Amino acid sequence: MAEFHHISVLHRECVEGLHIKPDGVYVDATLGGAGHSASIAACLTTGHLYGLDRDADALDAAEKRLAPYRERVTLIKTDFRDMASHLTGPVDGVLFDLGVSSFQLDEAERGFSYLHDAPLDMRMDQTAALTAYDVVNTWDRAELKRVIAEYGEERFAGPVASAIVRARDEAPIRTTLELAGIVASAIPNAKRERQHPAKRTFQAIRIAVNDELAAVEEGVQAAVDLLAPGGRILVITFHSLEDRIVKSTFRKLSNGCTCPPDFPVCVCGAKPVVRIINSKPILPSEEELAENPRSRSAKLRIAEKL
Ligand SMILES: C[S@@+](CC[C@H](N)C(=O)[O-])C[C@H]1O[C@@H](n2cnc3c(N)ncnc32)[C@H](O)[C@@H]1O
Repeated sequence: MAEFHHISVLHRECVEGLHIKPDGVYVDATLGGAGHSASIAACLTTGHLYGLDRDADALDAAEKRLAPYRERVTLIKTDFRDMASHLTGPVDGVLFDLGVSSFQLDEAERGFSYLHDAPLDMRMDQTAALTAYDVVNTWDRAELKRVIAEYGEERFAGPVASAIVRARDEAPIRTTLELAGIVASAIPNAKRERQHPAKRTFQAIRIAVNDELAAVEEGVQAAVDLLAPGGRILVITFHSLEDRIVKSTFRKLSNGCTCPPDFPVCVCGAKPVVRIINSKPILPSEEELAENPRSRSAKLRIAEKL
């Protein structure tokens, strides 16, 4: 078995869940630092791994890490929703490890972190048009409140949105620490929280900037379309919104028929496309949680193409 780099979440579970065949074709839709990819590539002989990411820095880092497997790996800069325009399939497995990478969080200038001062950016794809600066300084109060409530599950979304609007009426909000301070000022008892009071708002804005939820739904569908019969799709999510989307998309694809339940016979003719492998998500082990606190909210779901 390949060497496991523990910084990758649910690493062993993913490599095992993919049922890797040495001559198979695999897609890592979220290459990041290539922790998962390195182990997948190590299992291949004549097979091939396609690694995708929309972050040019991630692709550079992955290229170095995957250098020993160069002949078996192809790296592609793309949004995983568009994988069908780069890959023709069929493929034997697709892995999604959603969200931001530790690399992105730790690079202060990317503007993802409420702990390091940097311009408000948060783009995974550095060439994308929309930045966190735009969202924070130009979206109207109602839209900010909706995003912060829905994507951040922030109880004080209203006060936070109002505080942002008040602050930007004085002067544009330019940096992560400015924003973190404004958010904290709007949350009662912020100092007594276990986590940073800006955590939920930063997550919300990041999801909006990168259109992450729509991407998940479209990406999962695109992956299932590419899978060969018996091929597997694995998705790791990090918050309940993503997990809900994966769960319901898998369920829809495994049910087939979409006729209303009171129809006497099926008229839609839709057939099940996948079989769900684990009805309950796989969670990190105690050992992994102790080693890597960032794995805390991870959930893995697996389905197999029929
Ligand atoms: C959690 S990291 C993956 C870490 C990786 N599994 C590892 O072992 O190092 C998620 C990566 O997915 C990328 N990503 C997120 N959404 C994407 C999308 N819609 N299209 C392409 N890449 C995406 C991010 O840029 C980030 O590099």
